[in-house]
Amino acid sequence: MNAPAMPGLSLKAPDFVKHPRLIAWVADMAALCKPAAIHWCDGSQEEYQSLCQQLVDAGTFTRLNPAKRPNSFLACSDPSDVARVEDRTYICSALKENAGPTNNWMEPSEMRATLGPLFDGCMAGRTMYVVPFSMGPLGSHIAHIGIEISDSAYVAVNQRIMTRMGRAVYDVLGVDGAFVPCMHTVGAPLAAGQADVKWPCNKTKYIVHFPETREIWSYGSGYGGNALLGKKCFALRIASTMGRADSQGPSGSPGWLAEHMLILGVTNPQGKKYHVAAAFPSACGKTNFSMLVPPQGFEGWKVTTIGDDIAWIKPHADGRMYAINPEAGYFGVAPGTNYHTNPNCMASLGHDVIFTNVALTDDGDVWWEGMEKDTGTTPDHLIDWQGKDWTPQIARETGAKAAHPNSRFTVAAGNNPALDEAWDDAAGVPIDAFIFGGRRSTTVPLVTEARNWVEGVYMAATMGSETTAAAVGQQGVVRRDPFAMLPFTGYNVSDYFQHWLDMGSKLSASGAKLPAIYCVNWFRKGADGKFVWPGYGENMRVLKWMIDRLEGKTKGQETGFGISPAYSEITWDGLDFTPAQFATVTSLDKADWKQEIALHTELFGQLAYHLPHELSATKAQLERRLAA
Ligand code: GTP
Ligand code: SPV
Ligand code: MN
Repeated sequence: MNAPAMPGLSLKAPDFVKHPRLIAWVADMAALCKPAAIHWCDGSQEEYQSLCQQLVDAGTFTRLNPAKRPNSFLACSDPSDVARVEDRTYICSALKENAGPTNNWMEPSEMRATLGPLFDGCMAGRTMYVVPFSMGPLGSHIAHIGIEISDSAYVAVNQRIMTRMGRAVYDVLGVDGAFVPCMHTVGAPLAAGQADVKWPCNKTKYIVHFPETREIWSYGSGYGGNALLGKKCFALRIASTMGRADSQGPSGSPGWLAEHMLILGVTNPQGKKYHVAAAFPSACGKTNFSMLVPPQGFEGWKVTTIGDDIAWIKPHADGRMYAINPEAGYFGVAPGTNYHTNPNCMASLGHDVIFTNVALTDDGDVWWEGMEKDTGTTPDHLIDWQGKDWTPQIARETGAKAAHPNSRFTVAAGNNPALDEAWDDAAGVPIDAFIFGGRRSTTVPLVTEARNWVEGVYMAATMGSETTAAAVGQQGVVRRDPFAMLPFTGYNVSDYFQHWLDMGSKLSASGAKLPAIYCVNWFRKGADGKFVWPGYGENMRVLKWMIDRLEGKTKGQETGFGISPAYSEITWDGLDFTPAQFATVTSLDKADWKQEIALHTELFGQLAYHLPHELSATKAQLERRLAA
């Protein structure tokens, strides 16, 4: 127990909270963080409106012009707090090898000793929000509950959109239900009489996970995945450890998977529906692909969104893998989004949106780079994400972006016109294919099918991608990003590969047909430095080839890397894309692949501890085939 709470602070929980251990934990955290007040969120619309108004009054939010963007707000963060901080993210398992070589690690008691003084009094002068949320449909056997304690009203309102948040969570929890405690502070205590700033945060940041006790502690940032703890911290890092732990128990359960994947439904003109889950690294096209509008030539085809960022995947009794989206909203990248690249997304953003770090127009609406493609013009004047005047001339002279490259929107799934009817179904949807794709300007072909599960796991495990603005650090450098999970695997990544292999062998032993696995790359560039593949809606052509493969309609052709389409196997109606262009995005260059394999070798060297032998064997085969 910590020192007593602040004198005068009411610790009384509202009647709808009936869980003594939870109430005691909140009291403990109040004693530690010493807030001026405690607000138990009920998730109501009135509460949402009043917290948004409070954020407007504090200067954190600007209310957008209600005639243009009803019930929507713009928040602009501190320029030092704009993305996930991977170098400050820790997996504090008892043993270092259980965090593995791709995660930062600190011995748990040492980390607790580090965090203790930081959290002591960290909420002084602020309100502590207690935010109850369910990842997954409320009360579903697949869902898990978290309670986020945060001193940020911005976090509370975002969590109401991104998760199922509110009183009903307490009904599910009852008097002793399990929950993941998620502690969050911006790390900016206020002395008596001290004025607040618009975006409080701290230069010191810690994003900490204790996988054994299933706790999350986040200090110093108010942005995105650093602060909305249901998302990357819980639904990926903690949930991935939970899914594997279930496979290690005495029950014989194969366990489950928590993945950085979109989930979509695709229905052909005959009404047959398939489900696909795709893992692309941060800011590499998941939201876009999940809302794809089939192009000209694909009349009668329909793509519907189940999720745009995270999938929890569990085998059912029929031996198939079923996926749910544990989230309830989208925290998506704004720049580049327009009616050409993602019309369904644009249609989702008409009302009830929180924008973060985009630009403000003179008539009280929002703007970001890429919108000029819709209107044909760039506004003459904007207030940029840092609150400065922005004009096209300033942009030309200084290169200043109106919107931060990692600026985002927060919007409820219900706003999406392409929302799948089963998006909220507790049973999930049966997955027919997995897709893995990085951002690679060279080397990796447009699409390849793995010949079997192990080869697919190999392709995913060795995937590389150019870094993006979604994380603080250098942009555009190729790094290995296994399964698009490099920053999100809550345990040793070699054990994670093994878990994927084990799930595959257990399910196929039960007689089930495993999902097919594909590797894609929308990002090959030509000699002019431009993307060769048109991407976005045109990705439907690749998706259709995959479905043709599932239906046995096309043979594909064996390449050194896997099975790829012949030019003639892609439906080209409505698009002018020559065989020469196709060759540019599908060719395997010997010299490039020699370098690529060297990078796989380097990765496997780093991951040698517990690296599944099947993966080394697959690499040896690949080397032989590429040399042939
Ligand atoms: P997180 O939310 O960060 O996990 O990312 P996400 O994968 O959902 O990213 P999103 O869909 O928002 O990707 C945005 C970026 O990908 C923008 O830079 C887009 O322009 C780019 N992008 C998406 N699809 C395509 C495509 O088909 N081709 C090309 N060239 N770029 C694409
Ligand atoms: C990502 O970076 O993969 C995101 C955005 O989806 S954040 O929630 O900030 O992690
Ligand atoms: Mn993501």
